[in-house]
Amino acid sequence: MFTSQGPSLRELAVQALSSVEHGYDLLAPKFDRTPFRTPDRMLDAVEETLAAREGSFGSGLDVCCGTGAGLGMLRRLCRDRVTGVDLSAGMLAEAARAHPEGVDLVRADALALPGALWGAYDLAVSFGAFGHFLPSQRPALFAQVHRALRPGGVFAFPVGAPIPPTHPLWWAVAGFDAAMRVRNAVWRPPFVMYYRTFPFGPVRADLQAAGFRVETVPLEHFGYREDGTPRWRLLLARKGA
Ligand SMILES: C[S@@+](CC[C@H](N)C(=O)[O-])C[C@H]1O[C@@H](n2cnc3c(N)ncnc32)[C@H](O)[C@@H]1O
Repeated sequence: MFTSQGPSLRELAVQALSSVEHGYDLLAPKFDRTPFRTPDRMLDAVEETLAAREGSFGSGLDVCCGTGAGLGMLRRLCRDRVTGVDLSAGMLAEAARAHPEGVDLVRADALALPGALWGAYDLAVSFGAFGHFLPSQRPALFAQVHRALRPGGVFAFPVGAPIPPTHPLWWAVAGFDAAMRVRNAVWRPPFVMYYRTFPFGPVRADLQAAGFRVETVPLEHFGYREDGTPRWRLLLARKGA
């Protein structure tokens, strides 16, 4: 939810008319008071599900870590090095404030991770950032995460059940995506942020093409829909050993 301590409408509009990197630099000081920060409830559900299924990990990487929402859980799940990567220096500055110790923060494009991160991680996570990648960029993104993992390493992220067109939220996100397409057709620099560009089937196919073995487990914390399917699942993409 937006609060009175969060960004004003004007600040959000200025952010939306910037590039992704500059927009997040501007939003960074107030980002944790917006609904765009992944809620603790989701982070806790992912942490508990990973711990129950996999135990602990060696080193961990948060891809598009922002202000560090996922870094706390990585520090608890991982015995060794924990790294957060993000494009925005402003977001990383906030992450550094939240995690003054025990975390390496790297400013980099997730589509071009530095060689120092290759083959270094047992667990990679990502929260709330896939809307910033066009479907055509997914193979490159997944290839980068695959490269950063050690053999047997796991890339984990939550996946929501598809919203049916009968639900008002479907129309809200479809409207948002349509507005962003118009914005990006008439305004430079582009701000890539879409809600409906990460469907499960094509995502799984792209992960498999990148060399991952894919499975999902229900995030029991969020319950089930009337048709018996989980509201949220944790996708586990494993790099071959
Ligand atoms: C909505 S925020 C999510 C932050 C955090 N993961 C969370 O869940 O609260 C999206 C983040 O993705 C970062 N980002 C977007 N595109 C990126 C890219 N190509 N490489 C690295 N970071 C990127 C942005 O700078 C921003 O910090």
